[in-house]
Amino acid sequence: MITEIFRLAEGQEDEKIQRAAEIIRAGGLVAFPTETVYGLGADALREEAAAKIYAAKGRPSDNPLIAHIADRSALYELAASVPDWAERLADAFWPGPLTLVYPKKAIVPDGTTGGLKTVAVRMPSHETARKLIRAAGVPIAAPSANTSGRPSPTTARHVLEDMDGKVDCILDGGDVGIGLESTIIDATGPIPVILRPGYISVEMVREIVGEAETDRAVEHPLGQGETPKAPGMKYRHYAPRARLVIVTGGEEAVMERINGLTTEYEAAGTPCGVICTEETKAGYRCGNKKVIGSRKRQESIAHNLYAVLRQFDKEDTKVIFSESFDGGQLGQAIMNRLKKAAGYHIIRA
Ligand code: TXA
Ligand code: MG
Repeated sequence: MITEIFRLAEGQEDEKIQRAAEIIRAGGLVAFPTETVYGLGADALREEAAAKIYAAKGRPSDNPLIAHIADRSALYELAASVPDWAERLADAFWPGPLTLVYPKKAIVPDGTTGGLKTVAVRMPSHETARKLIRAAGVPIAAPSANTSGRPSPTTARHVLEDMDGKVDCILDGGDVGIGLESTIIDATGPIPVILRPGYISVEMVREIVGEAETDRAVEHPLGQGETPKAPGMKYRHYAPRARLVIVTGGEEAVMERINGLTTEYEAAGTPCGVICTEETKAGYRCGNKKVIGSRKRQESIAHNLYAVLRQFDKEDTKVIFSESFDGGQLGQAIMNRLKKAAGYHIIRA
């Protein structure tokens, strides 16, 4: 298959989106930008279309897909029941980086939900995504448009790196905004349970609903035989090729510890990388330093995380040491991805 790239140049967006929508209607695969990461879309109501997504990503078929909608009315065609508190969350955060999991209606094929009796639904805010869904006239099932296990794509170039020859077209809408996948909330129980943290933090959810919990799988590696509620959380995700180690502690102590480690490794001939910030970059003596963003603008760290991990994959780095980025609205989401990428390898400075 030849992958076509549709650049969304001004004035031609609508025509390109129409062509992409035809591909979706014909059962094909379209990668498209959203405000979180690029998605790999297909008709959510056709089992064979969803099967193509799993094949292109090399994704285990028990890992369900999110159905993307453009209008609230579409929710009630997919979800069998919607608690009042979930309506309030949708009122507050849709369109936007929030996914809600509901009991599913029969119209949603098992192939889209990985055999689960629930369906995850999100209404993205990105204009291109919204126009594509409307033009296709069906909900669009879309995981992140990366090969399974690689960092999610935040540019069309990242999508092409993983999906060239595997998808019909890529709608190139430039860089995404947020850079981390949506917050996923289980809406099948009495209170919201965060299955995956994202831009919408647990505090923001509590402000709307009063109470909310975070699923254990968000913060901890799972023990043998434990199953997370979001099947995707059990896989080692976002993994760079190099071994990634997170160093926690006070700023000075972290720098000193990383300097000690990189000096030791490089002396032994092992090329090292360092993930640091604008504020700390001058403090590192050796290793391949990459600035992930500024601590004064936490959203820059979220935005650049996957691009930095992908960049390391292209270089001959064997071990990467990263500062940690807890706290603030995005701390839980950033650290969730970073810890998974590190296989929970964390040392205290
Ligand atoms: O921001 C996002 O959510 C992006 C963009 C493209 O919208 N999509 C995305 O999809 O991150 P994906 O497939 O990479 O991650 C979806 C996660 C997986 O961990 C999956 O297990 C979980 O959502 N999920 C999907 N359906 C579910 C369900 N019915 N119950 C529990 N978890 C579900
Ligand atoms: Mg993904």
